[in-house]
Amino acid sequence: MAQRADVHALYERAVQDPPTDVKFFAKTYRRLRDHEPLSMREDFCGTAALCLAWVRAGADRTAIGVDLSQETMDWGRTNRIEPAGGDLADRIELRCADVREVGKTKVDLTCALNFSYCTFKTRAALLEYFTAVHEGLNRDGVFILDLLGGSESMGEDVTDNDLGDFVYRWEQARFNIITHEILCYIHFLFPDGSKLERAYSYDWRLWTAPELRELLLEAGFSKVHFFWEKTDRRGDGTGVFFEPDYVENQDLWWTFMAAER
Ligand SMILES: C[S@@+](CC[C@H](N)C(=O)[O-])C[C@H]1O[C@@H](n2cnc3c(N)ncnc32)[C@H](O)[C@@H]1O
Repeated sequence: MAQRADVHALYERAVQDPPTDVKFFAKTYRRLRDHEPLSMREDFCGTAALCLAWVRAGADRTAIGVDLSQETMDWGRTNRIEPAGGDLADRIELRCADVREVGKTKVDLTCALNFSYCTFKTRAALLEYFTAVHEGLNRDGVFILDLLGGSESMGEDVTDNDLGDFVYRWEQARFNIITHEILCYIHFLFPDGSKLERAYSYDWRLWTAPELRELLLEAGFSKVHFFWEKTDRRGDGTGVFFEPDYVENQDLWWTFMAAER
């Protein structure tokens, strides 16, 4: 089963929920800007699943995906974007580039999900990236990023998520409290006992909310918002986000921030 599996398809199913994310992006943008965003840039786009969900949700929408891996973007174009039909492929541009290289096209909204900016381990490198995002936005543009935290995020841990026909295993193999560097792996396990070990590896620095806020402001953003999801009585997420002044730490959490140009 491991030999027959497609890692890109497994990754998308394990960690992504593009329709929900793009709904959140548009809602957040409208809340901050009072009009509709049309153009979106997906940094670290991988298979460009968010670009596709973005253009699917509006006939006037366009998307640019940026990633260093041509192979991953090609997979997205061949297996997702082109089969989606209509004019969707014409409204998506995929660029094989470093996210710190600012393209000429400015967009309404830029997103960086699944903590991908954690690849930048120094203040200087992350500031360079945030500055590039700032420069690539229209005057009333908004940047949305997610972040990960909680006491369990700062340690070694293995979490299994059973998705029926495979298990997605998230391993935090090493965390250094001195540098906040964290080494993580994604493994896929199959019912026949076969495995795809270390299908993805992440050598990151785990940035905290105040560090991100300070660097976003330093990069030129005028205002930074920290969102938290409301939960129902059972503690499950409701999809409704608010802006708290105080949040008690939890074992593990992930949430969004938005920065206004
Ligand atoms: C964690 S995956 C993110 C995939 C997808 N965007 C998501 O939300 O799940 C990280 C991606 O970032 C790309 N990447 C890493 N460093 C990059 C850089 N400096 N510029 C552009 N892409 C980069 C990798 O090629 C990889 O596809």
